[in-house]
Amino acid sequence: MRVTTVAIAGFGSVGRAAAGLLLARRERFRLLYGTEVRLVAVCGSRSGLFDAGGLEGDRLETLEPGLSGPGVLLASGPDLLIEAGPTDYRDGEPSLSYLRAGLSAGCDAVVISKGALARHGRELRALAAASNARLKVSGAAAAALPALDLLQHSLLGSTVTRLEGVLNATTNFLLDAMMTRGIGFDAALKEAQAGGFAEADPRNDTEGWDTAAKLLILATFGLGLDLDLDDIDVTGVQVVTADHIAAWRAEGRVPKLIGSLGFGDDGPRAEVAVRALPLDDPLARVGGKTKAVRVTTDAMGETLAIGGGREPLATAAAALKDVEHILKERAAA
Ligand code: HSE
Repeated sequence: MRVTTVAIAGFGSVGRAAAGLLLARRERFRLLYGTEVRLVAVCGSRSGLFDAGGLEGDRLETLEPGLSGPGVLLASGPDLLIEAGPTDYRDGEPSLSYLRAGLSAGCDAVVISKGALARHGRELRALAAASNARLKVSGAAAAALPALDLLQHSLLGSTVTRLEGVLNATTNFLLDAMMTRGIGFDAALKEAQAGGFAEADPRNDTEGWDTAAKLLILATFGLGLDLDLDDIDVTGVQVVTADHIAAWRAEGRVPKLIGSLGFGDDGPRAEVAVRALPLDDPLARVGGKTKAVRVTTDAMGETLAIGGGREPLATAAAALKDVEHILKERAAA
């Protein structure tokens, strides 16, 4: 039977959940795609290189720490790299180095963190194309919400004229908590952090960067637009005051941090900002940690997807969807 070797860069909660799902599905991969999937290396601050020939899920807790870096990871000769490192919007590291090395070596890549895609997406797409490697990014584009699937598959026959979404669970939870439970910003943020869905640096959520990065990934990977993070007009929820909350309550409106993409005469226009929606707008009813995307097209009308799941499993599952597509494509190649 064919063998497909997999390496994971980044072994925090999402990397571990992805490893667990990957190992649990090996029998399915054998049956459906005729391949023996082997997890051959894991790199992260809490793990090193290991031989996972006969690895069982419970052994993942006992890895040797210390060894990491693209060189170490690629020495295991993976066919497929799952990138699950931390997100950094300044330079996209350390994910960028892993992805550059992996894609240059012709390794297929499944990306979960958003920094490298948001800052160097164009370069990574070019690297993948030059090496004939697959590059899939569902885990970085609102993960459990099937947003990228809509653009890349379901609505492919039409032209998208507008996209808007509640793409960040943390700020949706924050605004919801402030509006419906009357609790303050800091207390609500602590709850989001305890829930494990706020970013390590929550300003990435609250100041709108997580929403902007997801919007950018949808626009570039999903619609093929030539857009940069700096082209997006970003204002987060940090500008929301108690007076705003009181006014929205009085008006019967619901605030949502909306990432939107429209098309004017001068090309695409992308923005992240809080909008106070009327109650009958379906996006207004997307509460708590849930996310949603609404896509308007010329020929297929308007489509709304609402979703979300328990983290870190939901994000890991979105990445495994990409792994599964890659295994299917490799089997057909
Ligand atoms: N911090 C993100 C959110 C999760 O709150 O939606 C990862 O994208």
